[in-house]
Amino acid sequence: MAAKNLGSVGRVASASERIETSGLDTRPPASGATRPTSDLAGAASVAGAFLQSAVGGEHVAKRRRARFHPLTVAEVRPLTDDAVEVTFEVPDELADDYSYLPGQYVAIRATLDGKELRRSYSICRPPQRPSAGMGGSISVAIKRDLGGRFSTWANSELKAGDTLDVMSPEGTFTSTLDDLDGKHLVGIAAGSGITPLMALAHTVLARSASARFTLVYTNRSTRDVMFLEELAELKDRYPARLALHHVLSREQRTAPLLSGRIDAEKLERMLEVLIPPATVDEWFLCGPFELVQLARDTLAAASVPVKHVRYELFTTDTADRVEGERGRPVVVERGEPTVAIEFTLDGQSSTVESPVSANESILNAALRVRPDVPFACAGGVCGTCRARLITGDVAMTENYALEPDELERGYVLTCQSHPKSDRVVVDYDV
Ligand code: FES
Repeated sequence: MAAKNLGSVGRVASASERIETSGLDTRPPASGATRPTSDLAGAASVAGAFLQSAVGGEHVAKRRRARFHPLTVAEVRPLTDDAVEVTFEVPDELADDYSYLPGQYVAIRATLDGKELRRSYSICRPPQRPSAGMGGSISVAIKRDLGGRFSTWANSELKAGDTLDVMSPEGTFTSTLDDLDGKHLVGIAAGSGITPLMALAHTVLARSASARFTLVYTNRSTRDVMFLEELAELKDRYPARLALHHVLSREQRTAPLLSGRIDAEKLERMLEVLIPPATVDEWFLCGPFELVQLARDTLAAASVPVKHVRYELFTTDTADRVEGERGRPVVVERGEPTVAIEFTLDGQSSTVESPVSANESILNAALRVRPDVPFACAGGVCGTCRARLITGDVAMTENYALEPDELERGYVLTCQSHPKSDRVVVDYDV
């Protein structure tokens, strides 16, 4: 992604000064054990070395096939009353499978009460890779959603020593800037949307001594702020380069701009006084649909080019969560019109017939013959089921995952793609 020209140094300094008053001075954190600062500093330094060859430029586009592996839980650490950080051990032999870029996520698979559940969670720590072939760890944050089976179980029962199926990291919610020097990146997050931005902010600030990161983080109250202490430590470490703005919807803060729900008016005002868009090279939005859409609309109205805005939606783990179409039983009756769906996965080609009347997704059909076809959310959000359309036409129902350039190159979300021609060929390997 092409870098946009930054504003003057004077504007940079002035923005940084304002930040000093906008963090939440509430340490120690609301709950739970804390990780020593030295751990984070160490992680950031090794991340810097790794990222020399990872963030920015063509290296970001490198993609590997997502696979599940059983990983052992090393630690479950409370973050708030309703959220935990879960750290998995990565054995040496899987080090390459679990190398990742800041902002990526993993899908986790578990069977609860006889039902297989898959949930995607962003990785919250900056990448660590002391040396090739060495294992390490991977950490995600899981917030308990009211009625959410997986998140409730993870918050109340998951413990160190348990083993879960964890998919290798995926996702494109990361910086595409070739060079971070002098760049200004901005993250706007709500609730657990902070998770990928923790990894991104750590990485960007550690990678370049002249990069800046501004973080607008909205929650209901101080008690709901995840990574409260880590954010304060990051601010202490980079006082002039990290701007941290906590916005609390149900707590009164000194600055009216930082109190109450973020709406269009408040966001426009923030762009005026805190984050002039002309000073920003890349935007990262992560939260529920309403906030992300509001931010996208506001940035578009402020003439921010779409290609400078990256976003990720999070879905809730609620009881009425839409699971998407996968595993829907479809039977092919003799003589009825069908569509031929061909797909390549791990170099092996397979074909499945799908009744025209069923209008099923490519994923649903492909899972009948290959249970290892990759997917996580089945709702058009995570991008795990991405494949390239080689032949034929499809109609995609939803797409919250693919970037415009991926669409142009023919990629589709197979969980959302319904064949519209007699024969459809997709390739999961490219
Ligand atoms: S499985 Fe998540 S977008 Fe298709």
